[in-house]
Amino acid sequence: MPEKNIPQALGDVLAERFGERLRVDPDLPGLDELHRIAGHRVHRRYLAKPVDPDLLRLLCACALSAPSKSDLQQADILIVSDQAKRRTIEALLPEMPWLAEAAVFLVFLASGRRLPELSRLRGKPFANNHLDQFFNAVSDASIVLATFLRAATAVGLGCCPISVIRDHAATVSALFELPPRVVPLAGMSVGWPAQHGAITPRLGLACTLHEDRYDDGDLAQHIDDYDRRRAAVRPYARQRAPKRFGAASFYGWSEDKARQYADSQRADFGIFVRGKGFCLD
Ligand SMILES: Cc1cc2nc3c(=O)[nH]c(=O)nc-3n(C[C@H](O)[C@H](O)[C@H](O)COP(=O)(O)O)c2cc1C
Repeated sequence: MPEKNIPQALGDVLAERFGERLRVDPDLPGLDELHRIAGHRVHRRYLAKPVDPDLLRLLCACALSAPSKSDLQQADILIVSDQAKRRTIEALLPEMPWLAEAAVFLVFLASGRRLPELSRLRGKPFANNHLDQFFNAVSDASIVLATFLRAATAVGLGCCPISVIRDHAATVSALFELPPRVVPLAGMSVGWPAQHGAITPRLGLACTLHEDRYDDGDLAQHIDDYDRRRAAVRPYARQRAPKRFGAASFYGWSEDKARQYADSQRADFGIFVRGKGFCLD
């Protein structure tokens, strides 16, 4: 993080992110934390330096301190220490070489297993076998993942969530012996960053911040504005699927995401989740 005047630095980073300068009260408490949050970036290059297991445990405990829907506590973290298991995951995802560079690999789990077990242990009916249980477990796991990112960033570590492990959900499930109603949300590579990393601009707040009613105005125009703002600072290095879609004269975020979602991804994930015992109705 640049150690200039923090209110100024926070304003700068948000301007870079959203293309808009927000007012920052310099007397606000916690500005350094806001600056860290606003300055978020994933890290995919790491130093060959280990992460102390006690530090990792501390960060996981901080992450698992995150709020939990109805205090149901439906999230777990799995630390992959076994090198053979690490190599198996890396071999599944050769397009992501940063997994092998990272000192640590974690898997964040949506864990719906405990609730029916509580019902059984306490001799009560389990009357919530429907989509909401899965949704709550995924929400809890997502918040724990985000909180881990914050905790790791606070101590100077860099992370990259890895949802592509869900392309191999059944293999991952077998490798880590995930019981019924426990499914992977995402992996996470963690290490000491080898590079400063870069801010990824986000859609403007006119698109994603609403008041009293949902209103994204002229969405096509907002997206075009974002494409151009983003391309000016983070142009794509290459175009996706040029054989299928040709070479675009201007290649922005919306073109990239439209091309990405022109192919079905993980259409069998629902079958996997149902197979793990969740009801999605
Ligand atoms: C749930 C989740 C899953 C992700 N999965 C992957 C992944 O499989 N591989 C990867 O390289 N990045 C992955 N990412 C990182 C995103 O690509 C990254 O957050 C996004 O490009 C925005 O960049 P930023 O986080 O630096 O702002 C994931 C992020 C999230 C939140």
